[in-house]
Amino acid sequence: MFTPAITGTGVFTPPETITNDELVVAFNAYADRYNAEHAAEIAAGTLAAKDHSSSEFIFKASGIESRYVMDKTGVLDPARMYPQLRQRSDDEPGIMAEMALEACAKALAAAGREGSEVDLVICAASNMERAYPAIAIEIQKLLGASGFAFDMNVACSSATFGIQAAADMIRTGSVRRALVVNPEITSGHLEWRDRDCHFIFGDVATATLIERRDEAKAGGFEIRSSRCATEFSNNIRNNNGFLRRTRPDGMADRRDMQFMQEGRKVFKEVLPMVCAHILGHLAEEGLEPAALRRLWLHQANKTMNDFIGRKVLGRDPAPGEQPNILQEYANTSSAGSIIAFDRFSGDFAPGETGLICSFGAGYSVGSVIVEKF
Ligand code: COA
Repeated sequence: MFTPAITGTGVFTPPETITNDELVVAFNAYADRYNAEHAAEIAAGTLAAKDHSSSEFIFKASGIESRYVMDKTGVLDPARMYPQLRQRSDDEPGIMAEMALEACAKALAAAGREGSEVDLVICAASNMERAYPAIAIEIQKLLGASGFAFDMNVACSSATFGIQAAADMIRTGSVRRALVVNPEITSGHLEWRDRDCHFIFGDVATATLIERRDEAKAGGFEIRSSRCATEFSNNIRNNNGFLRRTRPDGMADRRDMQFMQEGRKVFKEVLPMVCAHILGHLAEEGLEPAALRRLWLHQANKTMNDFIGRKVLGRDPAPGEQPNILQEYANTSSAGSIIAFDRFSGDFAPGETGLICSFGAGYSVGSVIVEKF
């Protein structure tokens, strides 16, 4: 058996940002247009008027201040409210592969490796721009990697589930060097016209290089162990993909293909699951929570992370013990905990231990205990 280690991570950050204020101006303009267009039904009481959104609510409910997106103009156009992404020809790289490449290049550079030295690519994300051929195989080709590649989707937990799959293959020797890539175009999946959730997501791509510890060129983080768990719930879901349902009037409904959630239920049900999962994983590993220098948590909501930090550590986390990046990136689905790890792991000394944890739809939760060497 070999010992797997994370030897590099990389983040691709899209060039365009949307602040809460910009988002709310666009949403409110859309709501005003909608209310004007449906004034008669609203007056007759057959249709509900759309309320305005507010930056204060967004920050207070989520901790989010801004998000990055692949296209800002389409999202902020009150007559459109979703990204305008260029249609690509069949011969061009897809947008997910393109986003992934920059993240992969950074992860490889951090480890002193070339794409040709990789023999497994897992594209692990919440949404794939197509079902096949796998986005991962396209990334494999663009990197000049050998071996094999496949896509996997465990929603917001995709990164940790991908890391576990890759680490286990490295342990047994069936692969030697793996890239787990998380390109998330959440902006195409979010309903920007729904006041309850229009502020939640942002776009990004992350990559994690995993290889044998004894082959690491520049140190890294040994993967001591990982644990994944799932429990079915439809409280975070999209209802239809290619089997798109039609409404009674015969029209297809785009809303049915997008992100939906019962936010309050998610809070109540996911938090106990995540806390028990982390504490159980630590106990199995023979570690006290106090042995962790840092938690790199999924980045969905600040209140959620504060709660998890308190429950796991048994006290309020000290500054830096549980860093958030969601104020800048919003919820980037599977990529959030890896952005936090990428940004806040450079100060670890050999022997120090931390835990990466992601959770979300499924429900799903994945945790990875890592030790610096
Ligand atoms: N602007 C202003 N007010 C808003 C609003 C907005 N954009 N959206 C909702 N509100 C209002 C609601 O109408 C409601 O009003 P009411 O009390 O008069 O009915 C009130 O604010 C509270 O809404 P609620 O949806 O209960 O807010 P919340 O505190 O639960 O926060 C979320 C909403 C989505 C931020 C929160 O539920 C959450 O983060 N849930 C889990 C998210 C998550 O991790 N999901 C997984 C995705 S991977």
